[in-house]
Amino acid sequence: MDFSLSEEHLMIQQAARDFAQQELLPEVIERDEEQRFPIEQVKKLGELGFMGMMVDPKYNGSGMDTLSYVIAMEELSKIDASASVVVSVNNSLVCYGLETYGTEEQKQKYLTRLASGEVIGAFCLSEPEAGSDATSQKTTAIDKGDHYILNGTKNWITNGNTAEVYLVIAQTDREKGHKGINALIVEKGMEGFEIGPKENKLGIRGSDTHSLIFNDVKVPKTNRIGADGFGFKFAMKTLAGGRIGIAAQALGIAAGAYELALKYSKERKAFGTEISNHQAIAFKLADMHTQIEAARHLVYKAAVDKDNDHNYDLSGAMAKLYASQVAMETTVEAVQIHGGNGFVKDYHVERLMRDAKITQIYEGTSEIQKIVISRSILKD
Ligand code: CAA
Repeated sequence: MDFSLSEEHLMIQQAARDFAQQELLPEVIERDEEQRFPIEQVKKLGELGFMGMMVDPKYNGSGMDTLSYVIAMEELSKIDASASVVVSVNNSLVCYGLETYGTEEQKQKYLTRLASGEVIGAFCLSEPEAGSDATSQKTTAIDKGDHYILNGTKNWITNGNTAEVYLVIAQTDREKGHKGINALIVEKGMEGFEIGPKENKLGIRGSDTHSLIFNDVKVPKTNRIGADGFGFKFAMKTLAGGRIGIAAQALGIAAGAYELALKYSKERKAFGTEISNHQAIAFKLADMHTQIEAARHLVYKAAVDKDNDHNYDLSGAMAKLYASQVAMETTVEAVQIHGGNGFVKDYHVERLMRDAKITQIYEGTSEIQKIVISRSILKD
């Protein structure tokens, strides 16, 4: 087993690293404070092929593998998790979902524009009363022959206002339970579709998170993804890959905080020497480095499972569970190593600590990952 990255993967890593330093780092603190979406940066990410990394070039994608995607996600997330969540949702939920399960017409009409970054997508599953309990969909999509009538509210939707294309999960036939759920493509501007208020968040404050309201929105049946009743499985299959992207985001947040703490510990002096010479600090760095490396192996393993067409429900859930825990613990320690400066925005680590928390919540909380993991290991 060779753990070294290929030349191509190293090039993608360098390109993402350069982009993060040159384009994301300037004003990242201001964007966080002002809750300002990184619109220009996302546009450039699209031009460089980061918005449809795994999509076939015939649909304007970059035709790369999942390992390339997680490598890029790690580098972008080291600097700006608000930008990287936009990349993650667009790539692994929206583009992947459409490319794998959409019709040719849907791919031509929507995927080509999403993969090039011309427009951004959103994935709309969560509701006020259906977060972890995702089968309890209250949003309805009533079958009216050649179209559906969509009614309901979605919550905490990433890219809620910036997106142009929304994949919306809704209940068509309640008696059929999760087998009566459909996934519909909804366009911004469809009559009856309103964007709700923006959430004022603890972290990833540059990303725009909104509730969405659907009032008798007429959605053509040609916008349904997959067969009638496939919506819940569509959501589960898509989220299984999405979780690898968020695991990579968590890894990046942890690695970003660690790199800052390492550098600071070699510059800051206390008791007559650099603080890295104190065992209390050196041992913290040793723990952080070890945990990050372990998280990286889990993330890469999940990505390679996906690339090799192996089941990645288990490896993706383990990667997300562990990497998000490492992100939380590492960022707390990075703040601690920075001491008083860690509490100050200019040093970035307090933002990374706030950003880390969401990785234990979205695309399935840590508790949901443990359900997925335990069911998987107990099923035989
Ligand atoms: N692949 C394919 N099918 C799957 C699947 C998977 N990974 N997981 C479940 N299914 C299928 C099951 O096989 C079952 O189908 P059958 O009855 O035909 O066998 C069906 O889906 C229902 O599954 P369960 O009985 O296991 O359903 P459950 O009610 O026990 O829930 C759950 C399972 C894992 C807890 C699920 O509800 C879940 O993942 N919840 C969390 C939802 C989530 O991740 N939300 C995040 C919101 S999106 C987001 O955050 C995006 C963003 O903006 C950043």
